[in-house]
Amino acid sequence: MTKWTKKDLLGLEYLSAEEIELILDTAASFKEVSTRDIKKVPALRGKTAANLFYEPSTRTRVSFEIAEKRLSCDVVNMDMKASSVLKGETLADTGRNLEALKIDIFIMRHNMAGAPNVLARFVGGSVINAGDGKHEHPTQGLLDIYTLREKFGSLKGLNVSIIGDIAHSRVARSNLWGLTKLGANVTLCAPEIILPSDFKEFAPHVKITSDIDAALKDAHAINVLRMQFERDAAGAFPSPSEYYKEYGITKERLKKCRKDIVVMHPGPINRGIEISSDVADGPNSVIIEQVTNGIAVRMAVLYLVTLRSK
Ligand code: CP
Repeated sequence: MTKWTKKDLLGLEYLSAEEIELILDTAASFKEVSTRDIKKVPALRGKTAANLFYEPSTRTRVSFEIAEKRLSCDVVNMDMKASSVLKGETLADTGRNLEALKIDIFIMRHNMAGAPNVLARFVGGSVINAGDGKHEHPTQGLLDIYTLREKFGSLKGLNVSIIGDIAHSRVARSNLWGLTKLGANVTLCAPEIILPSDFKEFAPHVKITSDIDAALKDAHAINVLRMQFERDAAGAFPSPSEYYKEYGITKERLKKCRKDIVVMHPGPINRGIEISSDVADGPNSVIIEQVTNGIAVRMAVLYLVTLRSK
C-alpha cells in the first residue's frame, strides 16, 4: 500500500501513479462528509492553513476554504492586495514570517510559474499549488481525473481530448501529467499557433492535432479550456466569434460524438466562445460535478500533506 511521504503538492509531474491513486481514494472517502448534516471531521484540528491568492479565483479559493473548514483546520485568508508584498517584501520573507505565526499549510495561487516551488524551499510547512502561471494547477487536474474515474471506473485506455488554449493552460499540463500516468490516451486540440510542439515527453500517449473533428471522434471525454482572449490568446485567433465557429463545442458538434461523451470544463466558462450554453448545461456536462468534487479532492490533499509530518 502506498504511503504519502511528500511535504508539498506542487504539480502532478512530481507524483507517481500510485500517489495520484492514493489522493483519489482518500478523496472518495472524504466525499461522504459533505453529505452529512454536520459536515465536519476533526482530521486537521489544531492545524492552521493560510490561503495566499495573488490572482483572482472563485472555485479554487472557495473550495479550499470549505475543505479546510470541513477538516476542522483553522483558516487565514490573506488579502494579498493589503499585504506587505506591496511594500516590497519577498516571497521568502512572507513565508518565513507566516511560519513564525505557526502556519502549517500554505495554499498558493500566483501568476508566476514556479512561485509555489520557491515558497516550499523556504518554509517547513506544506505548500499546495493552487495554480501557478502557465505551469500547473494540480488540484484542478486531480478533480478532473477524480470526476472521470467516478464516471468510467478507470482511466486506463480512456480517450480524453483537451480542447482549447493548450499553450497558456496550467490545467492542460496537470491533466496531461495525471491522465497519462494513469493510462489514458490524451489528444490535445487547438489552433496551430497555440498548440506547442513541446509535449513530446508525453509520447506515445499523446496525439496533437488542430482538427477538431479528429479530436472529438472516439473521445470518451473532452475537457474544454477557456480561451484567454483577455490575455495571451488574443493574438492567436482573429476574434472570439471566429474561434467559436471553428472550435466551439456546440450541440451540432456533439451530435457527431459518442452518445455518452462526458463534457468537462475547469471554469470559468466563456459561453458562446469555447462552449455553447446548451452543451455546458446539457446532459453530457459534468462541469458542476467537477466543482463539487473539488472539495473532496482538496480535503484529501490537505489531509495527506499534513499526515507526512505526524
Ligand atoms: N478552475 C479554476 O481554477 O477556477 P478559479 O480560477 O475560479 O479558481
